[in-house]
Order: sequence, then structure tokens, then C-alpha cells
Amino acid sequence: MIRVGIVGYGTIGRRVADAVGLQKDMKLVGVTKNSLDYGVQIAKQRGHKLFCMDKERFGSTESEGTVKDLIEAVDIVVDCAPKGKGRENKDTYYVPAKVPAIYQGSEKSDIGVSFNAHSNFNQAQNQRHVRVVSCNTTGLARLLHLVNDGLGIRRVKVALIRRAADPKEYKKGPIDAIVPDPIGLSHHAPDLKTVLDVPINTTAYKVPTTLMHVHDVFIETINAIDHEELLELMDAEPRILLADPRLGFKSTAQIMDFGRDIRIRGDIFENVIFKGFTTTSREIYLTQAIHQESIVVPDNIDAIRAVFGGDRDESILKTNKTLGIGKLIMS
Ligand SMILES: NC(=O)c1ccc[n+]([C@@H]2O[C@H](COP(=O)([O-])OP(=O)(O)OC[C@H]3O[C@@H](n4cnc5c(N)ncnc54)[C@H](OP(=O)(O)O)[C@@H]3O)[C@@H](O)[C@H]2O)c1
Repeated sequence: MIRVGIVGYGTIGRRVADAVGLQKDMKLVGVTKNSLDYGVQIAKQRGHKLFCMDKERFGSTESEGTVKDLIEAVDIVVDCAPKGKGRENKDTYYVPAKVPAIYQGSEKSDIGVSFNAHSNFNQAQNQRHVRVVSCNTTGLARLLHLVNDGLGIRRVKVALIRRAADPKEYKKGPIDAIVPDPIGLSHHAPDLKTVLDVPINTTAYKVPTTLMHVHDVFIETINAIDHEELLELMDAEPRILLADPRLGFKSTAQIMDFGRDIRIRGDIFENVIFKGFTTTSREIYLTQAIHQESIVVPDNIDAIRAVFGGDRDESILKTNKTLGIGKLIMS
């Protein structure tokens, strides 16, 4: 049984905590909070043991102890703290306590081995510091790993249309603009190359929505494409969903509306590819939607198993089964 602690109980931490709780080979020991807000009530109502980052700030009545107490009681930490804080926590807590840790994609790539369950699970086996790549990179890695294995990739171009904020982030924008972010090529291609070696360039735009990211993907393949075979390949991968516009899946709005009725919090752990995309003999033009709040959750679970020397396919199978991945039908 792998004893797991979650440091940072926000958008990602709350979801990873629930997912850990569903694994038969893992035990959720507790979660940390930094401020006394409604997240404390969520943790309590879910029965999670609560630890605090800062005793002075937090107050002793609400928590079982400090982050140091949590770390002493676990075999691994999943750090879900905001950008840059994972690095600070590594240096302050995890390395001195000799505890392995998983970090999130906004940490710099030198924090540990970058990870995506499908494209490079084995590189993280028995490593002590592993970084699950970001939501956008996870979505790209899953798709491009599949196409590269099936058809070979000559080159890829992706325009990432990024949600400006998560639903709870009321201070972020824009509220009425489309922002090239950055102007020119974006960091997503180099980030993808930390887990999958394919020739790729990316551009990115921020748009006023909270629901999902959308990727406008162009892939030139090495081998000739049979459209029906490509659809079968995608259909056979549980972490990819084909959504049929004829059933009403015409935008991110319907995908998330569907998710809200089907899954806890409306989480869609899978890449959602709009069915009806175009192929030519060696080109693919497709659009995929990525639920930024939940797509990295299965990969965090697989990363935990990789650190303890687990087997890739076995882990992916277990994670999929426990999270209900492979059960949704959107076409
Ligand atoms: N949201 C996404 O779309 C998304 C997708 C993929 C990856 N990520 C990455 O996942 C990480 C977490 O993002 P998030 O969206 O979950 O952020 P979030 O909702 O703001 O949650 C961050 C949590 O960390 C806590 N915290 C703040 N400072 C901390 C510290 N120094 N040490 C430990 N915990 C601290 C916060 O505590 P309080 O709430 O108590 O203040 C909060 O619970 C980031 O690296 C982000 O880039 C985010």
C-alpha cells in the first residue's frame, strides 16, 4: 500500500486526492491547506485529514499538524501547489525529509523527470522527483504518441486556444479580447519534447472562457492514412474520446454540459476529439478539447506507480478502471 500525501488542496489537488482514494494500492494519508477557506470544508466533508502549511496563519483547531507531520507519515507527496511553490517545497521539505514527490507542469522541467503516462512512463520508473507535464502538454502527448506509434510523424503544428481562467478564478482575464500568448511560438512545443520526441511547433492564444482548452492540430504523417483505421486507433484508446457533432457535441459547452451530468465535478479526464475531422493521404487536421482541471489527474496516479517501479500498462489499466475512463460514449 503506497501512502500518499497531497500538498496543495486546490483545483488539481482536490481531484488527485479523490483519485488516490479510489486506488486499491494507495492510501490517502492527508492533504494540506494554506488558507482557511471553503476548501477546508470540502476536505472535512470528504473525510480527509487536514494538515497546514503554516501553523501561525492557520490556527491549531483546524488541522492534524503541519506539512512536516504529513510528510513524515507518507511514502510519497503529490505537490499541487501554485507555480514555483513546488520547487520551494522540494528544497524546504521533500529533499531534507528524503521523501519522493510528484510535481505539476508549471514547475520548471529541471525539477525532476517530466512525465506522461503514455509517452514516457518508463523514464520515471524508480525516480524520486517526477513532474507531470501541464494540461495542454498532457493532451498533446497522448494524441501525438498514438499517431506517432500508428503512422509515424513528419511534423506537427498546433494552435492552442487556451481558457483564460479556471471557473473559480474571478480576478483573471481577458473578458473581451483574444490575446496571442505569446506573439510567436509558444513554450508548449519544447515542453512536449521533454516527454515525446516529435518535430512540432506551437502557437497559443488566451480566450475569455473557463471551460476547456481547444487545440487546432495539423499533423503530417510518414505513412499513408486510412481514415477509418485512424478512427479505430483513436476509439481503442480509453483516454481519447471521439465526440460526434451529430449528437450535439458542437463546442466545449456541450462537452462540459455532458460531463456535469456524468462525472463528479463534470471532470473529463480524456482528450475529446471532434469526430468528422479531415484527413488527406498524409495529413490530419483535427480539433481536440482538453478539460484543464482534470486531464492530468490519471497521469498523476500513474506517476505515483512509476516512482515505485510499477508497470506502465498495468498502471494505466488500473487508473482507467477506477476513474471510469473508457466508459463514456460520445459518438
Ligand atoms: N488548474 C489547471 O488548469 C491546471 C492544470 C494542470 C496543471 N496545473 C498546475 O497544478 C498546480 C496547481 O494548480 P491549481 O490550479 O490546482 O492551483 P490552485 O487551485 O490555486 O491550488 C493551489 C493550492 O496550493 C495551496 N498553496 C498555496 N501556496 C502553497 C505553498 N507554498 N505550498 C503548498 N500549497 C500551497 C493553495 O492553498 P489555499 O487554497 O489554502 O490557499 C491551494 O490549495 C500548478 O502548478 C498549476 O500550474 C493546473
